[in-house]
Amino acid sequence: MSRDDLKRAAAEAALERVESGMVVGLGTGTTVEHLVDLLAERLERGDLCDVVGVPTSLRTERQARDLGIPLAELAEHPRLDLTIDGADEVSPELDLIKGLGGALLREKMVAQASDRLLIIADEAKLVDRLGRTKPLPVEVVEWGWDAHLPFLRALGADVSLRTGADDEPVWSDNGTLFLDCRFADGIEEPRALERRLIDRAGVVDTGLFLGMASAALVAGADGVRELTAS
Ligand code: A5P
Repeated sequence: MSRDDLKRAAAEAALERVESGMVVGLGTGTTVEHLVDLLAERLERGDLCDVVGVPTSLRTERQARDLGIPLAELAEHPRLDLTIDGADEVSPELDLIKGLGGALLREKMVAQASDRLLIIADEAKLVDRLGRTKPLPVEVVEWGWDAHLPFLRALGADVSLRTGADDEPVWSDNGTLFLDCRFADGIEEPRALERRLIDRAGVVDTGLFLGMASAALVAGADGVRELTAS
């Protein structure tokens, strides 16, 4: 099975958790793209009805709208039944790094407003410690973005401004920038790091999603298994 097949398998398994009448947060990324495709198919076939999606990015919003999935703003549904989203890294405690696909703030806002956050991933996303394989994205306002560099370096990070293929900065849906922070040995104390980062003016949010996921559906060669938060 290709990695993309695994992503689709995880998305298929997650769809079994969606019931008619639910308000569902729709995450962002290549795994969620499968979920949105499959959800649209089920709604079209009539296997599901009255599902409303709250998208976490313009990219997901466009895809869902093009496929005819009914959508709503977060303010219309301050409480969601379920959010399904991907992740860049998943720790044994189901703490996450997210945001490498260019969305994180809206993902976190929608996840926090949800009764459950269900993560869908292929098994390559599983790590024993966050930050071991991927950088941690930190979303910052444009003004003074480079003033954060010494601060982040003092926290042990090797930092780079995220740029695209054209070498131009990548902008988020919120008009903000991403500083990707690599930690050579991973992140030793994610909660302490999160506090330091969030307390700093100019930092909008971070890709650390700690204690938020209720379960993860992880696809591997032997099928999809469910990990639950202990
Ligand atoms: C979006 O910025 C992220 O938080 C994604 O959820 C994460 O990057 C996973 O994306 P893939 O499903 O594309 O790996």
